[in-house]
Amino acid sequence: MDADTQKAQAAAKAIEYVKEGMLLGLGTGSTAAHFVRQLGEKVANGFKVAGVPTSIATETLAKEVGVPLLNIDEVTTLDLVVDGADEADGALNLIKGGGAALLREKVIAHASKHMIVIADESKLVNTLGTFALPIEIIQFATSITIHEIKNCLKTCGVKGDEVAIRQKDGAPLITDNGNFILDCKCIEIPNPELLCFELNKIPGVVENGIFPNFKNAKRTLVLGTPNGAKVVE
Ligand code: 5RP
Repeated sequence: MDADTQKAQAAAKAIEYVKEGMLLGLGTGSTAAHFVRQLGEKVANGFKVAGVPTSIATETLAKEVGVPLLNIDEVTTLDLVVDGADEADGALNLIKGGGAALLREKVIAHASKHMIVIADESKLVNTLGTFALPIEIIQFATSITIHEIKNCLKTCGVKGDEVAIRQKDGAPLITDNGNFILDCKCIEIPNPELLCFELNKIPGVVENGIFPNFKNAKRTLVLGTPNGAKVVE
């Protein structure tokens, strides 16, 4: 079974959690796109929900498939967010941001009572850090910000310290919020919660792609596998 089929399978399992009338956060990336398309099919059959997208790409897709959207400024809390991940560990801490949407994804996840993370089984890891950690930074003074990030990685016990500004079409990628993304090759992140807090103390950092499992909201991981969707709570 290929990764994309596993992603579609995980999305289908997540659809089972969606109840009529819910306000949903709609994640970003290829796995979340499966969920949005499947949700669109339900809506076409008369199912009533409203969504808030975590990126312009997801907003475009949701409109294409007919999922009703609310303006984010009309919303304070959401019932459920369904989103993908680049890595998840056994404690359901995540690395996100491979699709450059980590800031809006984190705002929406933080406001949601329940987060369902959908992924193919390759995303489950023992320790976060093989996937380069995305960090959204302002465009001003990138050398200073990168220098401070490298110091922070070191003090948080991270092995790797290679940091690069993400490129797209030969120029730095600009996020939906007008910022840059750094990709940090951490190799291993011994304490994700600590690194998340420390990175966000750096003035040029807007947000980072570690989503610690804070337990203030429910988090469920749904993995597509050759033996069917596997749910980890
Ligand atoms: C976007 C994300 C995505 O959820 C993450 O990159 C996973 O993407 P995919 O489902 O395409 O593997 O965090 O910012």
